[in-house]
Amino acid sequence: MASDTTSAPQTANPTPCAPIDPASPILVFDSGVGGLTVLEEVRKALPEAPIIYAADTAGLPYGSKTEAQVAARVAGLLGRMTERFRPRLVCIACNTASTIALGMVREVLEVPIVGTVPAIKPAAAMTRTGVIGLLGTEATIRQAYVDRLEQEFAAGKRLLRHGAPGLVEAAEAKLRGERVDPAAIAHAADALRSQPGGDRIDTVVLACTHFPLVEEELAQAFGPGVRFVHGAQGIARQIARLTQGQEYARQAPDRALFTGAGDVPDAYRTKLAQYGLLEVGKF
Ligand code: DGL
Repeated sequence: MASDTTSAPQTANPTPCAPIDPASPILVFDSGVGGLTVLEEVRKALPEAPIIYAADTAGLPYGSKTEAQVAARVAGLLGRMTERFRPRLVCIACNTASTIALGMVREVLEVPIVGTVPAIKPAAAMTRTGVIGLLGTEATIRQAYVDRLEQEFAAGKRLLRHGAPGLVEAAEAKLRGERVDPAAIAHAADALRSQPGGDRIDTVVLACTHFPLVEEELAQAFGPGVRFVHGAQGIARQIARLTQGQEYARQAPDRALFTGAGDVPDAYRTKLAQYGLLEVGKF
């Protein structure tokens, strides 16, 4: 697997002048557990950084929502979360939320914001056949943001897109320790392979932060000779750059917060602990 280093929209709001409280967390936000794939890389880059992981499970899945619904949820929640937790930086670890609402959220919040967008640029550099597959949510694949990335970085290549909500469910299930539905994986691979030119795909962009959680299963379905690319490492590097020189002092265990009703299953808690999220709560 390779990771995107360059195509995420990684300019951010200017760093505020006031000194940063060493206990101030980095807030990592997604609709569900997909953002953990980004958190994993952030941990490697910044092991001392206090983290709050926030999952809008009450709004999951974002991929089947309208642009207005996603924008309203993301802006509203991040507004309330930044007020309550005073993060030093917000990472929107969600392609759907970023491709729809990144610009708008940056306009209203004063904290630096790093988003996540499809890794089309590195995929275009990697492909040898010139045919790239892109798996995202239904909302992500129709965004003008993706059209612009394609025009800018993949002109002259063929980019075949597929919206795969079944993979979001598969990733959530896998994290709960449940069986991944092989039909969801096979369907996603077939949907790209069956498009004109699909038999020549050699590079697949995982344009949803949930999908690296099922990369192994996808790799089996696509077969040898297909490489996968996503943005997690590049995002972590960007966060490290934007927080360079800042001090960290973790004063409490890192937390995962969920907006959804109901108890967080034990299987989930076990996995979250493996990502260093030792406390679990509601937002
Ligand atoms: N993890 C999200 C993404 O990167 C979206 C999953 C969903 O809520 O549909 O697009």
